[in-house]
Amino acid sequence: MQDDPFNKNPGPTPDIAHSIQERLAHLKKEIRHHDHLYYVKDRPELSDGEYDRLFLELVELERAHPELVTSDSPTQRVGAAPLDELGKIRHERPMLSLDSLIDQGDVLAFDQRMKRELETNQIEYTVEPKFDGLSVELVYDQGSFVRGSTRGDGTTGEDVTINLRTIRSLPLQLQAIAHPSAHLVVRGEVYMRLDDFHALNRRMTERGDDAFANPRNAAAGSLRQLDSHITADRPLVVTCYEVMAMDGPLPSSHWDELEAMALWGLPVPSLRRRCETIDDVMGFHHETEQERDNLAYEIDGVVVKVNRRDWQERLGMKSRSPRWAIAYKFAPRKEITVVQNIVVSVGRTGTLTPLALLRPAEVGGVTISRATLHNADEVARKDIRVGDTVKVERAGDVIPAIAERVPVPGESRSAPFTMPSHCPVCRSAVARQGAYFYCTGQAACPAQLKGAIEHFASKSALNIEGLGKRTVAQLVDQGLVRDLADLYQLSREQLLKLEGFAERSSTLLLDAITRSKTVSLDRFLMGLGIRQVGQHIAKVLAREFGSLDAIMSADRDRLQTIMEIGPEISASLVSYFQENSNRRVIHRLQELGLAIEEIPVAQSEASLPFSGKSFVFTGGLAGLGRDEAKTLVERLGATVSSSVSKRTGYVVAGADPGSKLDQARNLGVAILSEDEFLELLKKQRGI
Ligand code: IVH
Repeated sequence: MQDDPFNKNPGPTPDIAHSIQERLAHLKKEIRHHDHLYYVKDRPELSDGEYDRLFLELVELERAHPELVTSDSPTQRVGAAPLDELGKIRHERPMLSLDSLIDQGDVLAFDQRMKRELETNQIEYTVEPKFDGLSVELVYDQGSFVRGSTRGDGTTGEDVTINLRTIRSLPLQLQAIAHPSAHLVVRGEVYMRLDDFHALNRRMTERGDDAFANPRNAAAGSLRQLDSHITADRPLVVTCYEVMAMDGPLPSSHWDELEAMALWGLPVPSLRRRCETIDDVMGFHHETEQERDNLAYEIDGVVVKVNRRDWQERLGMKSRSPRWAIAYKFAPRKEITVVQNIVVSVGRTGTLTPLALLRPAEVGGVTISRATLHNADEVARKDIRVGDTVKVERAGDVIPAIAERVPVPGESRSAPFTMPSHCPVCRSAVARQGAYFYCTGQAACPAQLKGAIEHFASKSALNIEGLGKRTVAQLVDQGLVRDLADLYQLSREQLLKLEGFAERSSTLLLDAITRSKTVSLDRFLMGLGIRQVGQHIAKVLAREFGSLDAIMSADRDRLQTIMEIGPEISASLVSYFQENSNRRVIHRLQELGLAIEEIPVAQSEASLPFSGKSFVFTGGLAGLGRDEAKTLVERLGATVSSSVSKRTGYVVAGADPGSKLDQARNLGVAILSEDEFLELLKKQRGI
């Protein structure tokens, strides 16, 4: 115990107790060491039998002295009592995501951008695999693992501490030799190795459970378990790739950060390279892609990070991703299989989508048995027919698609595919608009009605919790809901008659429906499911018009005065609101108490204090981050540019400014120090 600097106060103990404690400490240390060699370094030194003997001795000693069991003991990885739900944890730092690039040209442009922003010709990158799992935040206090959570929305995630404890490659106790910080927050990826994934799926199907679609789903499903015994039984691994917070300064480069984490005993990517040029990055990408099929785990690209920390800080971040790193993805994998049938599905706006049912094929560890064919034109262009041999591809999350038909010499082919003349769900006539075929049944078509309600209730629209696919299907199939407004007339008695509904679930759903009665204008608009009107356009409309009435009475010309709205969106809006049945439903929704919050209409751009002015930032800002500064001036009407010209309004020079400052001097552009800039902001904002 004495060589453990984290253990501050073992306290005085009688001799025997002391020797038991010593033996316990010794066993734990040994087991930890061998776990590290086995699970992290992949270099075991003990036989299984020798390891088991150590472990058993620890188990028995702890059983005899339960008061001496500590939460970081290797025996404590077996799982704890099941939970009712996963708690929430607010991340200490936002968990960002990465911009994905796939084309070499875009990666070269990224390198150029970095060089321009940093005003240098020589940038070192660290490149490592992009693990295809789910990302987690891990917190260590005094060297002990105390807390871990999933990414969630980037700000708040789910508390999966007890599940993470069951992962063998995750050290419950950091190695003290390398003096890790007393408080340490790291980020990593939890995933499942391919052989373990296949074995798990075999076990699941043998038991009659559904198999997981891919290793990532298997990892997510296993980690987000309420019963950690189940997680303990699932072969998860973790690799760490980022220190998010620690006491004192962070290591001065990403490479050093990985090395430091490795010294502390954390698993880090063993495949990694420091690249002095973007050509070296390309080389690593290429080599790794060649090796991809020989790796024990799934990766879907490499992550390229500017190595120097001070440069990372200077580059800062965008709203959801750092500017100094990108995911450089691999080209999608392709596999050959046969089209067994082509069926047609009906979406929420009535669009018919042809879908190929395939002879199941494994593409990069994932079994694919269906692929979208997008629309009739695409089927015709690729000339895909039932019985054809085809190449299917899968790119990350994207729904599998058929890349092309593979002609087979001497094959006799079936007739070309044609779209049905009647909806396969409701038998209404099918109409055509350009490449799209759609069912004219509208809300009378159960497929459309279900889709419309699911969309209306979804998170980014009315956010009615508990109104998922299954419940919506029941409500529609039982005839309880024939349009959106019917949702607000559902009664407890009606719900109780549905399969799977009891008092509690009915109350929860009715409460959620009631809560959705107050809704912002943009969410409501988005929820209506008008073609071409997604979250963004709904926001634009809400900001421009302020009220539903104003939007409903706007004609095409008025709508098209808005920058982001062209002929298609305006036509779609006008025809939606002209439709009597739509107006009736909206009217009924309002009568039933739906209150749509109106918002003040945006100030016209020209009247903002910085309208027409442009800003260029150089060097680091101490008080505000670059992003914050940028957002502030943009809100006041300015634009922000990355290069200085005669037309530049102000150059704001922070610490360690680059050549942009000289350019500003040469061109006679106004130069502001950080303090002067803040002063100017204050004045403009009237504070
Ligand atoms: S760094 C601030 N490094 O990819 C940068 N992410 O789309 C944060 N991922 O959500 C991410 N391997 O879950 C980083 N070596 C790696 C990674 C990695 C996988 C995941 C991560 C992130 C997603 C980005």
